[in-house]
Order: sequence, then structure tokens, then C-alpha cells
Amino acid sequence: MKAHESDPTARHDNHELSERARKNLWLEVTRMGSFSPEHEIPVIVRGEGTYLWDANGNRYFDGLSALYTNQLGYGRRDIADVAATQIMELSYFPLWTYAHPRAIELAEKIASLAPEGLNRVFFSTGGGDAVESAWKLSRQYHRLRGETSRYKVISRNVAYHGTTMGALAITSVDAYRENFQPLTPGGVKVTNTDFYHAAEFGNDHKAFGLWSAGQIEEAILREGPETVAAVFLEPVQNAGGCFVPPPGYWQEVRTICDRHGVILVSDEVICAFGRLGTWFGAQKYDYIPDIICCAKGITSGYAPLGAIIVADRIAEPFLRGDTTFSHGFTYAGHPVSCAVALKSIEIMETEGVLENVLNNEDYFQSSLESLLELPIVGDVRGAGYFWGVELVKDKKTKMPFVGEEAHHLLRNFVVPEMFRRGLYCRVDDRGETVVQLAPPLISTREDINFMADTLRRVFEGAQKKFLSE
Ligand SMILES: Cc1ncc(COP(=O)(O)O)c(C=O)c1O
Repeated sequence: MKAHESDPTARHDNHELSERARKNLWLEVTRMGSFSPEHEIPVIVRGEGTYLWDANGNRYFDGLSALYTNQLGYGRRDIADVAATQIMELSYFPLWTYAHPRAIELAEKIASLAPEGLNRVFFSTGGGDAVESAWKLSRQYHRLRGETSRYKVISRNVAYHGTTMGALAITSVDAYRENFQPLTPGGVKVTNTDFYHAAEFGNDHKAFGLWSAGQIEEAILREGPETVAAVFLEPVQNAGGCFVPPPGYWQEVRTICDRHGVILVSDEVICAFGRLGTWFGAQKYDYIPDIICCAKGITSGYAPLGAIIVADRIAEPFLRGDTTFSHGFTYAGHPVSCAVALKSIEIMETEGVLENVLNNEDYFQSSLESLLELPIVGDVRGAGYFWGVELVKDKKTKMPFVGEEAHHLLRNFVVPEMFRRGLYCRVDDRGETVVQLAPPLISTREDINFMADTLRRVFEGAQKKFLSE
């Protein structure tokens, strides 16, 4: 069956489900008022392999792994079986004072895969609470060492790190922040690594990397090193469209953090568990952070789970005497989620999933780069199975689409056109105007061809409508 062919077994009524959703369901980060009986909420009812079906029986290729979660594809019986077995053995028990076998095994497994020296795993339920946990842990770590004034956190412009009040102070997307002022104090912003719009550096990626890392040091010095607890960065920044680190960037940031006693947190909520072709993003770019935040792909999206992986030297003062990290969540390290994560990691190992990403990384890149011949495509950037395509109004000047025009282009044209052609992925105008691709890690070259061909057709249509001759 080709993408977007109908599924004859579908027994759903999208209109009816949409109307029921409109009465009682509150969608996350969604303009609820934009739906009506005529403009229905799309309802996804089923997944199998790399495909999804909506309630009308239409099939879509999942170009975003749901929400950067689904590494292994949908509907795996072997994962369902371990979840069912775990429910019968021990459906739930907290990690408050007690331990359970699956959390012990998963912590061991994660430590064995993580960069050297990161051996202590504190579980959460997802990404935002992993980020919260890392910030709070950093603050308490400094306190335990007598540095009580270190509470601030440095993160990059346009970056997204979650929406809870603490994580929101680290997130830099205005749209998420503006209604919730005053925010938790201590969030400090620095430049991101958007090389495409850094014209003054010409082709010199290395100089740009050193300069942007230097901005972090400037911020630390400006704020006062004795007030800064941590720096939070993603290996590849998602919001804004897959900003990759320039060569030498991470190594320079590591040196700066060491120089000023600041904890370096690698927020790998998207990048960990194979998204970049390595277990962790830190391994792709060859640095050792003090804390890694992860979630999403840890269970391949089959159950909610997050974690922070902490370096021995940061964990050490917490393991003495009567010290407690006074922080936790009822469902952190849920046994069913841990069992699912263990199975998902095992499958990734036995089925060569990381190898699949690495084997196809260059092919994915060149397929997307072939779109650069279109006037509307300004830049293609990313790594592994994590790519962004930036759309521009004028390629020579790199002029972006902005405001209502960007909204109209993305939301009223690109998204419905991709959907109509059987491709589910994501558009983003939190920074520049980008289309984001992050397919399941089992996707093949045929799947990559489908994504690139579909985008080509959609962008050709967009050019006719949105670019003047
Ligand atoms: C880098 C990063 N950090 C944190 C989060 C927040 O994760 P969650 O939505 O699970 O709270 C996200 C979510 O997309 C993310 O991409």
C-alpha cells in the first residue's frame, strides 16, 4: 500500500471524534478556537511500522517519529509483551526509598552506554521534569560545596527545554514565556549556533564556533561566575531548525565551564538514543558533559519516561552522610516504562538501529540538499535522522518569511499539502521558517526518497503561491 492510501479496516468517524474532542479535550500548545464542525481536529487512530492512520482511514508516513519519540516504529508485539509481563509482575512501585529490579537494570544499562564517568541515573517522567531535575541538582550541588549564590542558568536563544516553570526559564521561545511572567529567576540567554544567518563569519565555521562559545563565557563573566550554576545546551538545537554545533564548539564550552566551575548540561531529550546515530549526542560531538537529560526515545515512545544521567563527581557529595536530593515524582522510573525502555534498547542493539542511521545519514543529507536548487529552500542542516529545511523569501539576501506570511505559508499551505500527500512532519516558526524531519530510526532509503520527493512537490507549490517572479 502506498502512503496515503485508505485503510479499509478503519471504523472511525473523524467528524464525530473531533466534535467530542472539542467538548472535553484540551490539546497541548494548540489554538483551540481554530477548530469548528467544518475545520475538524485531525484524529490519529493507529500506527504500524513507520506509518500512521487517521480516523478517515488515510495513511501517513511518520516523518517526525510522533514527537521525536518513536525510534523503532509502531505496533511492536515484543515491546507490548514485556509491558504486559511487567504489569503482572509489579505494576507500579515508587523509587522513594525503595528500588525495583527494572529501574536497577535500566540504570545499569544506561550507565554502560553513557559517556565515561556518567554513571548515576535519576529518573523522571519526561523531558521537562528531567530539565527541572538537572537545574535543581546543579543548584544543590553548589550549595553542598558552600557555593550558595550559584543559581543562574545559561541557555541559547530560541532553544526549547520544556514548559514547567523552572524549565520555562531555560526555554527561550517567547511564545511559551510571555503569558507566565514573572518567570523563575536566573535564566540568562546567549546566542545559538545559527551559522546560516551569521554572514559576518563567511565560510569559517571554526571561528563562528569559537565566537559563539565565547558568548557563553562573556555571559558568565557579566553575571558573575559565583552566581552561575549551569549551562544547558542541546547537542543539535531543535527549535529554530537543527542548529548543529560548529567544529570545536562543545570542546570550548567544556573548557569555559571548567574554568568557571559551572555545570555543563547536555539536554538530549531529542538527541539521545540514536537520533544522531550514537547513543548520546555527546558521543557524536566528542565531549563529556556533567549531566545528560534524556526522555522521548528512551522508550521509543511506548511509555513515558525521562532521566538525568549524572557524572560521578557531581553525584559524589549527595552520596555521603545524611544528604538528600529533596526532589522526586511519583511516576519517575515507573516499572512498566523501565521494562519497555530495556526492551527498546535491546532491540536497538540487536537490530542494528544505530548502524541504520549512520549508514543512511549522508544519503538523507544529500536527498534533502537536492532541494537547495529550489529558490524557496535556503538551508538544509542537521545530523543523523534529525534535519531542518529553512524556507526563505529571497535566497540571495536570506530574507525570511515573517509574521502572518510565515504563518500562512506554514500552517495554511505547507502542513495541509504535506498531509494531503501522506507525510506527517512538523513546521516551526519559533525562529526562522523551517520544516523539521525526524523519522523513526528504522526508516529506509525508500522512506527518505518519499520524504524528499513529497517536500519537493510541496515546496514547488509554495513557490508559485508565495514567491514573486
Ligand atoms: C530539548 C528538549 N528538552 C526538553 C523538552 C521537554 O520535554 P517534555 O515535553 O517531555 O516535557 C523537549 C521537548 O520537546 C525538548 O525537545
